[in-house]
Amino acid sequence: MRKKVLVVGGAGYIGSHTCLLLAERGYEPVVFDNLSNGHEEFVRWGPFEQGDIRDKARLDEVFAKHQPEAVLHFAALIEVGESVKNPVAFYDNNVTGALTLLSATMDAGIKAFVFSSTCATYGLPERVPLDEGHPQAPINPYGRTKWIVEQALKDFSNYKDLKSVMLRYFNAAGADFEGRIGEWHKPETHAIPLAIEAALGRRQGFKVFGTDYNTRDGTCVRDYIHILDLADAHVRAVDYLLSGGETVELNLGTGTGTTVKELLDAISKVSGRPFPVEFAERREGDSTTLVANNDKAREVLGWQPRYTLEDIISSAWRWHSTHNAER
Ligand SMILES: NC(=O)c1ccc[n+]([C@@H]2O[C@H](COP(=O)([O-])OP(=O)(O)OC[C@H]3O[C@@H](n4cnc5c(N)ncnc54)[C@H](O)[C@@H]3O)[C@@H](O)[C@H]2O)c1
Repeated sequence: MRKKVLVVGGAGYIGSHTCLLLAERGYEPVVFDNLSNGHEEFVRWGPFEQGDIRDKARLDEVFAKHQPEAVLHFAALIEVGESVKNPVAFYDNNVTGALTLLSATMDAGIKAFVFSSTCATYGLPERVPLDEGHPQAPINPYGRTKWIVEQALKDFSNYKDLKSVMLRYFNAAGADFEGRIGEWHKPETHAIPLAIEAALGRRQGFKVFGTDYNTRDGTCVRDYIHILDLADAHVRAVDYLLSGGETVELNLGTGTGTTVKELLDAISKVSGRPFPVEFAERREGDSTTLVANNDKAREVLGWQPRYTLEDIISSAWRWHSTHNAER
């Protein structure tokens, strides 16, 4: 019989792609999601249980019904700008929700937990590439909610025997190569979907914030990692915990930086459709360069990113050109 795992937030972008690979690798992913930002049609590889992570009774019911062996926790509010406008909602969903889920997880006797964290927990980099030992000093409420959950996970590992893998993602991007699922955030704030929507003529153009950064062409550098490389690391994290692995935090990025201008050129090339680009002032809170040192993930999980920027863009293009994410 396949081992069941609970994928919380599994109707969203990263969670649904992880379900795809979990199912391919012999697990049965049970999705738990309140559909606040998820899509029921993304739940294709296992059962769906609708519910909210702040509802302990509902969580207890789902744990009793499915008896999963591990929990993967993707559910969160994710938009940094929104977290500044409405921090209470972020603390409620991302901290209270995570603690309620953790309490239900431990009550159900589960010892393995994989957490979606973020490079935003580092704040402004003191050095790049960023390794896991870099100080964590998040600069917005979103990053702080993730940092707080990381602290709780370390305490629960030390004092409650709940082992976790905290995965600090850099820029998740791309889509399933078969075009079944893709990046569908509402509103969309990520660079690749926004630029593709511009190339498709669904947006007026693309706005670049800042051209005077100390980088090779003056625009910010980011580390884009294919969603299936991220998903692969999650499946390996579950394998690792179920075979007795200790609590660990790991960066998930490719280790290669791409400037915004390079990204836009690559999108024009892959799509064959140039689009208007507007150059604007810097935006507050944007780091010059965010690139991962991924040595630890390679070593602990035996993982390595396989896909290129072209793979990211062509798979994203396929999804967006066949689905209108604005609907
Ligand atoms: N997208 C990125 O580049 C990125 C980068 C770093 C970290 N992350 C983290 O990865 C995780 C997944 O991100 P995503 O891009 O897939 O986001 P997403 O919004 O597509 O997915 C999140 C899912 O969680 C669900 N959800 C939210 N609150 C819930 C609640 N209270 N109860 C039940 N379900 C709830 C939503 O309906 C949605 O399906 C998040 O925790 C995010 O902070 C994402």
